[in-house]
Amino acid sequence: MARSEGVCLTLLLILGALASDVSADVVKKFPLLMPHVKPERAETYFCTPIRIDPTQEYYITAFQPNASMETAHHMLMYGCETPGSDKEVWNCGEMALAQPGIISAPVCGSGSQVIYAWARDAPKLVLPEGVAFRVGGKTSIQYIVLQVHYASVEKFKDGSTDDSGVFVYYTETPQPKSAGVLLLGTGGRINPKSVEYMETACTIDENKVIHPFAFRTHTHALGRVVSGYKVTRDSPYDRWELIGKRDPQLPQMFYPVANDLVIRRGDTVAARCTMQSDRDRITRIGSTNEDEMCNFYMMYWTESSVLKKKSCFSLGPPFYYWTRDGLNSIPDRDASSLPVGKSAREQGIESHQI
Ligand code: CU
Ligand code: CU
Repeated sequence: MARSEGVCLTLLLILGALASDVSADVVKKFPLLMPHVKPERAETYFCTPIRIDPTQEYYITAFQPNASMETAHHMLMYGCETPGSDKEVWNCGEMALAQPGIISAPVCGSGSQVIYAWARDAPKLVLPEGVAFRVGGKTSIQYIVLQVHYASVEKFKDGSTDDSGVFVYYTETPQPKSAGVLLLGTGGRINPKSVEYMETACTIDENKVIHPFAFRTHTHALGRVVSGYKVTRDSPYDRWELIGKRDPQLPQMFYPVANDLVIRRGDTVAARCTMQSDRDRITRIGSTNEDEMCNFYMMYWTESSVLKKKSCFSLGPPFYYWTRDGLNSIPDRDASSLPVGKSAREQGIESHQI
């Protein structure tokens, strides 16, 4: 009796394994690559789009870069409702000089969100089990646009061309969890020879359970630390939990979050960029190299639909600080410092499998 039960159990286990194997989702790979472009000027940013079938939903589960740091300085993939241009390639540079003969346009025409970022020979990025970006069909991502930044063009002087890009892994099998990105950022200005805090905060008012799993920071040259928090508003003291922080001078990819935490309706998300200027002039928020930016991207999954809210921007200094929203117990030192005992370089070479 005992013996036959054992056999049955073994058989069941084998059958179970077989069944899960049979029903395994078919994963396909789509190459989104530059169509053999030839950037002529240093600091060129090119964009190339793909249109996604509006009659069918797809589920993106991984990104595999096809680039090397000698050619591409960085790559970003954007989900767009409409693309910035109907051309095969266009100039789409923030901070950029346009290449003559090629039109200039924004990355997206509307509905822009970053879904992948690559820099400095980062490895393949696999989303957590069951998590996927929903694209095509009735979703707000009808196009994916690849942006490549060519910092140096020495390589192309001999007439060679570039097909840097990303292999996108996707399936048509619905995945239980949707991935989304919330962008936190500021406007504002940084005074000469000073340290400035650029801060933003928003309360989540949608009835969803949000699981952050990765984050990315972006500034230009003046950023020293960018940090993001979940704030539980409580009386008399707010509770701050770190989502992630980074030296923005390190490769600006998505890194795993610092803490597994959950954001619900009524919670606040907050970000700070600590900027240090040795310049003699005022530096303002803007898209060129002379300007600054303060961005914290929070990538999350949810078992419901993604947040309608895609961004959380404040006016920044001198008009906005966290205190203007009545936030208290601000972790001032933590928000503006990096982990001790770990050099920037060491942090930069940590694995970034999420
Ligand atoms: Cu770059
Ligand atoms: Cu920027």
